Amino acid sequence: MFGEGFLGRGATFGADLNLLVQIGLGLLLLIGMVFARRGSYRAHGACQSSALALAIVMTLVWMWPSFHEIYVPDLARGIANRTTVAVVAHATLGGAALLLGVYVVLVAGTAVIPPRFRFQNYSAWMRTLLVLWWITIGLGVLTYWFANG
Ligand code: HEM
Repeated sequence: MFGEGFLGRGATFGADLNLLVQIGLGLLLLIGMVFARRGSYRAHGACQSSALALAIVMTLVWMWPSFHEIYVPDLARGIANRTTVAVVAHATLGGAALLLGVYVVLVAGTAVIPPRFRFQNYSAWMRTLLVLWWITIGLGVLTYWFANG
């Protein structure tokens, strides 16, 4: 993962892979949205929950370790540049997107959330999550760009 990347920007293999995987997952969410619009809710649920699961895996194996080992020490030393600003915004919105994603999948696909904590307005919640997710991808791409510029 720490070897040379393949996108020619001097990033690590892990960063290049994460970039492509996250953009792919963002596209998978858009495909899933089309399924929902067509009334194919089973396919919709499969796309959105797979995208969430893979995003969580990539966060745990790549982004959280990078945040913890590279950016937290930088921030603790008071380093404020365009990369650290982008990464803090990215990690904050990304964390919120993942937590919201888990909540939405649990409400939509299971009965584990008690009735008083469930929402009824599925499309508003899911649309909000999709927008938050794509803003997170945008900030992730900025982080990649700044960190390897
Ligand atoms: C929906 C959730 C998320 C999405 C879609 C997402 C997407 C991305 C993308 C596209 C990149 C650029 C590729 C790269 O440089 O590796 C990136 C990088 C990064 N993300 Fe996320 N991310 C999410 C959640 C998080 C969370 C919760 C954290 C907090 C720990 C985080 C921390 C980072 C860090 C530190 C990097 C730079 C990694 C590196 O050194 O290569 N991300 N993310």
